[in-house]
Amino acid sequence: MFLFAILSLAVSLASAQLRFPCSQLVTERFDPLVTPGEVSPHLHQIVGGQALISGLETGGSSTLSRFNLTMDPTNDLPALSSCTTCRFVEDKSNYWTAVMYFKNRNGSFIRVPQMANHNTGPGIQDGGMTVYYFQPNPPTKDLNIVAFRKGFRMRVGSPMRRTNDIDPNLTEAKQVTASLDLGPDDTFEFPHRPCSGGIRSNIYFPQCWDGVNLDSPDHESHVAHPVGGLFGTDCPSTHPVRVPLLFMEIVWDTRPFNDPALWPEDGSQPLVFSMGDPTGYGQHADYVFGWEGDSLQRAMDVCFGGEGIATNCPALTVQDTDTMNACKQAAKVPEITEGRYIENLPGCNPLQSGPASATVIENCDAPSTTTAAPAPVGPSSLVIPPWTVCNPGTVHQVGVPSCDSIPKTTPPAAVPTPRPAVITPA
Ligand SMILES: *[C@@H]1O[C@H](CO)[C@@H](O)[C@H](O)[C@H]1NC(C)=O
Ligand SMILES: *[C@@H]1O[C@H](CO)[C@@H](O)[C@H](O)[C@H]1NC(C)=O
Ligand SMILES: *[C@@H]1O[C@H](CO)[C@@H](O)[C@H](O)[C@H]1NC(C)=O
Repeated sequence: MFLFAILSLAVSLASAQLRFPCSQLVTERFDPLVTPGEVSPHLHQIVGGQALISGLETGGSSTLSRFNLTMDPTNDLPALSSCTTCRFVEDKSNYWTAVMYFKNRNGSFIRVPQMANHNTGPGIQDGGMTVYYFQPNPPTKDLNIVAFRKGFRMRVGSPMRRTNDIDPNLTEAKQVTASLDLGPDDTFEFPHRPCSGGIRSNIYFPQCWDGVNLDSPDHESHVAHPVGGLFGTDCPSTHPVRVPLLFMEIVWDTRPFNDPALWPEDGSQPLVFSMGDPTGYGQHADYVFGWEGDSLQRAMDVCFGGEGIATNCPALTVQDTDTMNACKQAAKVPEITEGRYIENLPGCNPLQSGPASATVIENCDAPSTTTAAPAPVGPSSLVIPPWTVCNPGTVHQVGVPSCDSIPKTTPPAAVPTPRPAVITPA
């Protein structure tokens, strides 16, 4: 049984949620929260709002990029945006995480593709993630939530972590996990065996806010997890304001890398995160709120029990998947990050396997400036997932959207072909 199915069925009765797909916007070394104004030390995959409506970004002027090296908290993100890679048109937020690579036996790295999650159709999204906003459920006493507001941002997880050093009794211990074969055996670390159905990262942001600060120097201390678990628990007195539980899932298509002949001969596992993390403990994610007006609050107030199906929330506007996939931003750091084997991870990120915290490499000679003329964004190469994203209109199942539930607003794209296996064993 898939963890998602269990969660979804459980919470559609006991709690409520918005659940929706967001396609990839851009993959590059930007992190406007942690390293504003600088090229980030490691690579991120970013989804959400952007300032151009066309699939091709031809200009190159930095003013055209809404997701930028610097994102002033006073910017009116919805007003600056003309498209979003997310299902709900009102959501011009940005969400980002590390990127996963496969390390070949010869030491070279290639990006692990991402694919659409269960029941995120109609349509196949281009990489990215699934985003959830959960409302709290009993027995928690603070059931009324307050939506995030303009300028709000936060981060969860630590890119430098290389060991499981979180007290298992703390809610934090469950904030970042990996699901193997998309089954219920969640771990904090990379699996030590091939997973036939891919791997899913599960990332829970804190859902309690101090009610005052839109951000904090570490991007974490203005928010906190409830005590005693992620669901059905109350906020601590230090962070009394209940905000939605923001949760993201990233489905990594590790299927092309499952041949044991490709795995390291020393028994270690070959997956690494973009910050040089072969343990998985450094997985982290960032959020910059950018919903239009009070749209998130309105949705949280009325969209309960929607089975996690986007079209079941009448307070919000959906767009079709082709339109989501067409919203792209060109990468501006002049370096190759995907599409072929690379000798080193982008930035200066040698593998650091811990258990000590990773350290920053001094005198890094990786590109540190952006180009004024980025290459136009090419067509998406969609991965067809090995599961259902929607059902034909005549079939109704709890939690599964209908394939004809969202009318197309753009001409149909060419029939996507599965991404070819990117490696051929020698
Ligand atoms: C993007 O970031 C750069 C570098 O920090 C900054 O100079 C520029 O003004 C920013 N552009 C926008 C539209 O915020
Ligand atoms: C490692 O193997 C891959 C796949 O065969 C190849 O593309 C890459 O160039 C190789 N790297 C080195 C350093 O030989
Ligand atoms: C976790 O809680 C249990 C039960 O209260 C306690 O016995 C155990 O020592 C705690 N573990 C840690 C690491 O604090």
